Amino acid sequence: MFRRYTLLLLLATKVIATTHTLIISGDASGGAVSATFNDVNHAFKITGSTLTNGADWITLASTSRAYLTFRNTATVAAYDVSRSGGLFLVGEPVSVPVPVYVGLNHNSSFLFTASYPTGAIATVPLSPHGIPIAPAVTTTFTATAPLASPQDQARPHSGLIDVTGKYLIFPDDGLDSLHVYKVDATSATFLYDQPSPVRPSGPRHAVLSGFPVVPNWIPRLHVVNEEDNSVETWIMHYTLKNMSLALQGSAVSTLLVKGGMDVSTAAELLISPNGRYLLASNRDASLFATGSIAVFRINAPTAKTALTRISITSSGGANPRSMSLDPTGKWLAVVNGNSNSTAMFAFDQETGVLAAKPVANMTGINTPQTVVWLEDRHIPTATETEILRLEHFL
Ligand SMILES: *[C@@H]1O[C@H](CO)[C@@H](O)[C@H](O)[C@H]1NC(C)=O
Ligand SMILES: *[C@@H]1O[C@H](CO)[C@@H](O)[C@H](O)[C@H]1NC(C)=O
Ligand SMILES: *[C@@H]1O[C@H](CO)[C@@H](O)[C@H](O)[C@H]1NC(C)=O
Ligand SMILES: *[C@@H]1O[C@H](CO)[C@@H](O)[C@H](O)[C@H]1NC(C)=O
Repeated sequence: MFRRYTLLLLLATKVIATTHTLIISGDASGGAVSATFNDVNHAFKITGSTLTNGADWITLASTSRAYLTFRNTATVAAYDVSRSGGLFLVGEPVSVPVPVYVGLNHNSSFLFTASYPTGAIATVPLSPHGIPIAPAVTTTFTATAPLASPQDQARPHSGLIDVTGKYLIFPDDGLDSLHVYKVDATSATFLYDQPSPVRPSGPRHAVLSGFPVVPNWIPRLHVVNEEDNSVETWIMHYTLKNMSLALQGSAVSTLLVKGGMDVSTAAELLISPNGRYLLASNRDASLFATGSIAVFRINAPTAKTALTRISITSSGGANPRSMSLDPTGKWLAVVNGNSNSTAMFAFDQETGVLAAKPVANMTGINTPQTVVWLEDRHIPTATETEILRLEHFL
């Protein structure tokens, strides 16, 4: 009784802080570092480190399971994650072509990796406990009409499963194309290539929108292009046997002043949890002495243009290659790799306003690579009824 009374008093007199846990991989620090962020006093600090040397991309399957890529050993590996963000290897790392990205399908039956340096994609079956099983199945794409580097060869940069869980899309930075695959039991089969409308564009990362579901929703795919520094939107049309992509309007620049052909800067793309805004990072932008973040409003699927850019602000440091929003859409963590710092910005997902200055700027991790929040988030997944409607135009 006394304890409940005390708690009520506390609630009435002060805002209760939430301490969030994040995991950040860093090349020069030698591993994956856990950090905490207090959302009231904004303390942002390193709390521990796991020596997973050369750790690069981090994908969380849940708050207790992570998959990491290693460029130095060309492997992908599974980790159990402790509540404080510590990583513990489970199973054996599996060899894949030098990976820059790892993702997993809806029912966790396989992993997929993208290899920018070698032009290959790979799938790795997962055991029922989520442990990768060697060997990986690899496909290498070849350039039929090569341009100057980096468009001289295939450079798949990431992969993403659609809302039905049946299709897998790999943005290919080198071939300026989206490779569309059909998901099988523990791998995927190539279906077709959707070329970009312009070359070079450099499709790098992508996110899905259409969630949360509103009546008559239409799933869309937003892609960030790192060669022409733009974001473009594809409407996803389904039939029983196929999914095709149709552009909505034209690409919108991530920069105020076009960077020119040799400036490859756009990197990460995020969507606010409420589905209303996109955030794209620019690793370098002449406007600031730092990288920047561009915010776009997502217009209705019926609008002539899919996106309206509403702001560009400093990323708080140089080379923001990765960034991550917390599941409530209130906090944006940005790793500024070349400044050896990680900035935390307040974001308002109702208005799309991103604060011009960070509330915290954490140092101590050199060349931070990837940042993730150790918090549950929903993978956009359509229900059986929604899939039926999509596939039959109901
Ligand atoms: C996982 O999904 C794939 C593709 O939809 C399916 O073929 C496979 O049977 C599923 N596996 C399990 C264990 O549910
Ligand atoms: C699937 O759709 C794509 C894009 O519209 C098309 O190029 C491809 O031929 C289709 N595949 C089948 C099997 O219908
Ligand atoms: C964050 O810290 C880095 C490293 O000290 C520094 O270069 C950068 O300017 C800082 N950013 C802000 C917004 O203070
Ligand atoms: C960041 O850390 C790396 C590795 O320790 C170092 O080489 C580099 O000079 C640092 N950069 C800055 C801006 O401090």
